[in-house]
Amino acid sequence: MRNILVVGASRGLGAALVKHYASKPSTVVYATARSERPRDDPNTKNVKWVSNIDLMKSTCGSELASQVKDTPISAVFITAGIFKLESFDEPGPDWDIEVATYTTSAIAPPFIISALYKANCLQKGAKVVLISSEGGSFALQQAGGGGNYAHHASKSALNMVGLQLKYDLEPKGIAIAMVHPSFMRTEMTKGVGFDVAWDENDALTPDDAAKLVGDWTDSELDMTKTGQFWAPRGTRDIGSWKEIMGGDHIKGPVKLPW
Ligand SMILES: NC(=O)c1ccc[n+]([C@@H]2O[C@H](COP(=O)([O-])OP(=O)(O)OC[C@H]3O[C@@H](n4cnc5c(N)ncnc54)[C@H](OP(=O)(O)O)[C@@H]3O)[C@@H](O)[C@H]2O)c1
Repeated sequence: MRNILVVGASRGLGAALVKHYASKPSTVVYATARSERPRDDPNTKNVKWVSNIDLMKSTCGSELASQVKDTPISAVFITAGIFKLESFDEPGPDWDIEVATYTTSAIAPPFIISALYKANCLQKGAKVVLISSEGGSFALQQAGGGGNYAHHASKSALNMVGLQLKYDLEPKGIAIAMVHPSFMRTEMTKGVGFDVAWDENDALTPDDAAKLVGDWTDSELDMTKTGQFWAPRGTRDIGSWKEIMGGDHIKGPVKLPW
């Protein structure tokens, strides 16, 4: 029996990762939500909901760890995230959005991973996946942009958090990767009006993205890739790839530049 943990599982990619792993034999999926009530799905009896895990709270790591203590987890996915549009001129950067986005994306993860380790949930052979974004790549952002400070910079910060965690986890035999899950047809991108580009940029359904991310984690993430930044799908959905990196798009897993 293996245990999978998905942090931020109520919607989008997180919900799809739960569905993906719950369909596999001999697998129990622990799924977190920040709501009070666990969402029980009769078709997924091997899903255990962990409620009240809000990544805006300083206690998110300890609360989660107390609910899964001593459960050996094979793979943890931290996928909770926020994307709100910000602009330089009117209305300008938004303080509250910035705090929420950085806190959720980059501050909460080390608290969660450290608490899970101390609660005997992460042992040798375990894998940690921090869901990042190509938007957090300094190299890929050289094609131009502006605005959206919190979303992009919080993912750059998350990448650095993951790199530092690599040094902590490596001696313990635990692999960690930062993963761009691809451009997806979720409420996140619809909420910022990016749904107009879903077709043009070949956005994936969250189910398809979850399969790619899950399969890559199961079959390819190991200690040789720990601390790295990957796109399991390849580069098709990364708008600046050809301009910045040259050549054509690459299909299949690609290691991304910081
Ligand atoms: N969509 C894309 O094209 C895309 C591209 C690159 C990277 N990503 C990254 O992929 C991840 C998933 O994106 P998505 O499109 O699936 O997003 P989504 O549909 O907007 O879902 C976001 C999830 O994060 C949870 N969440 C937000 N703030 C939280 C908090 N403070 N505490 C706990 N959970 C919180 C939400 O929970 P509630 O239901 O409680 O709000 C929801 O489950 C994000 O990290 C995103 O940045 C997405």
